[in-house]
Amino acid sequence: MVALTLPKNSKVHRGRTHKAAAGTAHVRRFRVYRWDPEAGGNPSLDTFEVDLAACGPMVLDALNKIKDEIDATLTFRRSCREGVCGSCSMNIDGTNTLACVKPIEDIGGDVTIYPLPHLAVIKDLVSDLTPFFAQYASIQPWLSADSAPPPAKERRQSPDDRARLDGLWECILCACCSTACPSYWWNSERFLGPATLLQAYRWIVDSRDEHTGDRLDYLEDPFRLYRCHTIMNCTSTCPKGLNPAKAIGAIKKLMVERRG
Ligand code: SF4
Ligand code: SF4
Ligand code: FES
Repeated sequence: MVALTLPKNSKVHRGRTHKAAAGTAHVRRFRVYRWDPEAGGNPSLDTFEVDLAACGPMVLDALNKIKDEIDATLTFRRSCREGVCGSCSMNIDGTNTLACVKPIEDIGGDVTIYPLPHLAVIKDLVSDLTPFFAQYASIQPWLSADSAPPPAKERRQSPDDRARLDGLWECILCACCSTACPSYWWNSERFLGPATLLQAYRWIVDSRDEHTGDRLDYLEDPFRLYRCHTIMNCTSTCPKGLNPAKAIGAIKKLMVERRG
């Protein structure tokens, strides 16, 4: 029989509430997923009341304030706080995004924060991205050429060739898109997912790369590439405004062209 409910140990219970001091004027409630592997037990949703008058404007500012002032055990990744490292990806208000570029004022009501969906949780908001980065490594994300580079010079590109990398090189591998993709949820062991496929396309169209055929051979597979059904969740969730679905479509077109 099909199981229509979550297993008992993954049901999220109501957690602790950390109230703001009486009289605080600009209180916002942050409801944050908690799970500690050492404590065991079920995950919970803790509530933190934060004084927005003494907090920066982004969701990451609130998480830092909670960690600094309310509960130092709250665990999440962050580094650059500028939207360039990809570390602070999480599910905020129902959408995968980067906490450091998500303004609190864009969210109405309580701010609900979960880890990226459909990944194993290591602790609190930290998901296990090991399989995601193993898939990324599988597409050999580096320039691959058999010919020697020009002596004492870099391998050059024309401005037009360089422009073909725009919309691709900006990807910060935050995994927001892949973990928003229903095909990836159900087939993440075999479907490479939108982030890795966008990165694969970045090397396929690089004019300096000499292994385009090998790269396409690797993707010519019913699961690695063709599990994309153009649902477009990836493109609508990308916090960098990139279009992985378009890159996937371009790879599929190249597959057809080389058969012809
Ligand atoms: S395409 Fe966008 S959402 Fe996907 S990993 Fe790259 S930056 Fe993140
Ligand atoms: S377009 Fe493809 S990769 Fe993007 S969400 Fe849909 S199925 Fe996933
Ligand atoms: S902290 Fe680097 S992208 Fe958010």
